[in-house]
Amino acid sequence: RRFLQTAAVLAAGIVLAACGKKEEPAPVAPAASAPAPAPAPTVYAVGTDAAYAPFESQDEKGEIVGFDIDVLKAIAAKAGFEVKFINTPWEGIFNALGQGDRDIVVSAVTITDERKQTLDFSEPYFDAAQLIAVRDNSKVAKFADLKKLKVGVQTGTTGDEATTKLLGKTNTNIKRFESTPLALKELESGGVDAVVADNGVVIHHVANNPGAKFKTISDKEFAPEHYGIAVKKGNTALLEKINQGLAAIKADGTYDQIYAKYFGAAPAKAEAPA
Ligand code: ARG
Repeated sequence: RRFLQTAAVLAAGIVLAACGKKEEPAPVAPAASAPAPAPAPTVYAVGTDAAYAPFESQDEKGEIVGFDIDVLKAIAAKAGFEVKFINTPWEGIFNALGQGDRDIVVSAVTITDERKQTLDFSEPYFDAAQLIAVRDNSKVAKFADLKKLKVGVQTGTTGDEATTKLLGKTNTNIKRFESTPLALKELESGGVDAVVADNGVVIHHVANNPGAKFKTISDKEFAPEHYGIAVKKGNTALLEKINQGLAAIKADGTYDQIYAKYFGAAPAKAEAPA
């Protein structure tokens, strides 16, 4: 009987010891002299239609480069996240955000009320407007002159929108292309009479393709546009990081440096309020 009692006490002791083990405090953090390794930063998948120089394009090595790329990399460095750029066709680029295939879209995207219904945008980071490209012997002098002509646009862009408004929804003279370079190629070969696209891209193309013999025409009819960085609707945490990073690179001169690298001079500062 004494033996049984002893065994019971022993057994209870073992159970207690086992329980006690579980209640042991977690190992103490290492001493201050040996700092814990920083957690690995989050890597966000960034969609960009890399056929839109100088904002995003692929260099000879296939690497995605451009103004937007430098801006987002600088934002990420400030805000403490990492980015991986993935060439993504313009058509479907916003769906990729909604489906979670991309976390961020940076692609010279104009902030519009319509897009704001399905996406969230950062603060604006670049000002733009539509610009018309024609062959240099063209008589086109203003946007309204395109009414009876064949016009090339990139499908689903603000250039498409403006042109559709001028020519009419069902007008078969609007030729829609999956990329802006394809539309500009068609202008060179005579398949269209004009291309309507973002000014920065048209100017860059004309400057780099003197053989194409294009000229450009601006028109005050075109509304001012502002590019924003897009995230999935409701991803406020990421949007806040992006906006903080953007404010930081604007404040410390990084943004102006990137701007000068691509466009030759710092952007005009908004006038101080009177
Ligand atoms: N800014 C215009 C828009 O938002 C065109 C952007 C096209 N961007 C591109 N990477 N292809 O509709």
